[in-house]
Amino acid sequence: MDTTGKTITCRAAIAWKEKSPLTIEEVQVEPPKAGEVRIKMGSSGICGSDDHVLTGDLSMKFPLIPGHEGAGIVESVGDGVSSVKPGDKVLTLIIPQCRECDACLHSQGNFCDKQDVLPCSGVMLDGTSRFSCRGQKVYHSFRTSTFTEYTVVPEISVVKIDAAAPMDKVCLFSCCVPTGYGAAVNSAKVTPGSTCVVFGLGGIGSAIVMGCKASGASRIIGVDINEQKFPRARALGVTDCLNPNKLKKPVHEVVMEMTGVGAEFAFEAIGKIETMVSAWNSCNISYGVCLILGVAPEDTQLPLEATKIISGKTMKGVCLGDYKPRDCIPQLVTDYLQDKINIDPLVTHQLPFNQLQKALELYHTGKAVRCVLLF
Ligand code: APR
Ligand code: ZN
Repeated sequence: MDTTGKTITCRAAIAWKEKSPLTIEEVQVEPPKAGEVRIKMGSSGICGSDDHVLTGDLSMKFPLIPGHEGAGIVESVGDGVSSVKPGDKVLTLIIPQCRECDACLHSQGNFCDKQDVLPCSGVMLDGTSRFSCRGQKVYHSFRTSTFTEYTVVPEISVVKIDAAAPMDKVCLFSCCVPTGYGAAVNSAKVTPGSTCVVFGLGGIGSAIVMGCKASGASRIIGVDINEQKFPRARALGVTDCLNPNKLKKPVHEVVMEMTGVGAEFAFEAIGKIETMVSAWNSCNISYGVCLILGVAPEDTQLPLEATKIISGKTMKGVCLGDYKPRDCIPQLVTDYLQDKINIDPLVTHQLPFNQLQKALELYHTGKAVRCVLLF
């Protein structure tokens, strides 16, 4: 049945308010307006940024449909959409690429002005939402929403990928892989023989480890409070695992002792102030580079020892590995299809969408690196 131009009724997960359980509901998904794309979801990851929304660390309008790390097939497009067409395999993007704003036009920028991360609003570019449930408006998350059988996103938040990409894994290229792997290989440009320290060994941290290993780092120190993460992290290339809760000293002091001079590259992939400061303090004071990937809670400040700034080390924020997403992510997918990147170890679990609660449990207990929801 042709659904073009019609409202679609389907199942979606709704968070009715902060810190409350998600429920799977019947929702109405309006047709895409001009410049928008409606997608039949194929798969979605569960990312730390979704958790920040659900806990309220990133404030967004509720009720909302969570999720941003998605892959699917274009069902229909609104007027003026030219970069994708019905039937295309696509990824949703947490950071769009409008190709018009200052960041998009700058050679080094990728934090598009049209992003909906800071601050989050949960709406399309025209200020409204395409979802409703029992007559009530339901908002988007990061202008995407992927815990749903159908979603509507702006064209600038969608990118077409190779049709041969496996739907049940490729959603990780929407966020996890460019964010983590990209931070190591593209943003930090980790050097062969270097020492890296990775704070947080979840999906993003694991992808960072893969990037450090691929770049030839000789020592990769992994830091996590959940020791269940350690065996998989070692398999990906972590050489030393540290649990800060079991150390007698602050973790940065232990990293300093282990390395003598501090790490050349430190990555924070948790989203907490204290671990951002630890990552900074774990770097070599002269040439260390600290990359912040975690999204800190809103309205927080980073307390750094001001006199130590002069010594030369660098702190850099990075989202989606500094890639301009619509320009660069399709090539990463192609690299995967050509066996140049292997993301398979990141997909530790796959579950049908109706087992969302089990998938969330795998996420919260830390048993999964990434659990992919299948539609
Ligand atoms: N110290 C060390 N590790 C911690 C701490 C802590 N204080 N708190 C949490 N962790 C670990 C968790 O045990 C988990 O393994 O951090 C990891 C976070 O991983 P995920 O929850 O899988 O989140 P991920 O998707 O990897 O995202 C991490 O990157 O893009 C951002 O918004 C995202 O801030 C989030 C971060
Ligand atoms: Zn994400």
